[in-house]
Amino acid sequence: VSLAYATDRRPDVDAIRALYAAAPLRRPIHDAARIRRMYEGSNVVLTAWDGERLVGIARGLSDGCFDGYLADLAVHPDYQNRGVGRRLLELARSLNPEVQWVLLASPVAKDYYAHLGWSGLPNAWRLNREGWDYHQVDYDTYKAQHAELAARA
Ligand SMILES: CC(C)(COP(=O)(O)OP(=O)(O)OC[C@H]1O[C@@H](n2cnc3c(N)ncnc32)[C@H](O)[C@@H]1OP(=O)(O)O)[C@@H](O)C(=O)NCCC(=O)NCCS
Repeated sequence: VSLAYATDRRPDVDAIRALYAAAPLRRPIHDAARIRRMYEGSNVVLTAWDGERLVGIARGLSDGCFDGYLADLAVHPDYQNRGVGRRLLELARSLNPEVQWVLLASPVAKDYYAHLGWSGLPNAWRLNREGWDYHQVDYDTYKAQHAELAARA
């Protein structure tokens, strides 16, 4: 199948939640309003579509000329290992190659980015958020909690 890629489409919040459940990508998908706000506050939303089905997404924040933070990257398991993630990252780069992107890799993707030309950072620092965070839930629990949602992706 040939997929369509977009830099200007804002998917339905429930399609995003279902894709995160299926991928899986641990985000507060139990809180649809928060996912909506996460997207409303993001100025880079890159998507991959099989017809009207959302199959891949990257969300980021960027000034468009120097810095960018890639917050989420998720590809539906039916479409993984077919270059969708690579293509979404290339799209981010192509918005403006003068932008330096940073991200936090998930445990399941910690070796993914080196392969695609990203460099690891010895000097990255984090100020932890309060409330729900992904390290409080393991992947099996997350998948079990959201199986119904994942099936809709
Ligand atoms: C990680 C993820 C985004 C990769 O997307 P994808 O579309 O499946 O990956 P691609 O097809 O673009 O893979 C490109 C290359 O990376 C390799 N690769 C894929 N997934 C990988 C992983 N988890 N770890 C290491 N290498 C990986 C592929 O084999 C491929 O190698 P090749 O070019 O030599 O053939 C996707 O598997 C996913 O959504 N995982 C769950 C959510 C997640 O962890 N997201 C990342 C958050 S930081």
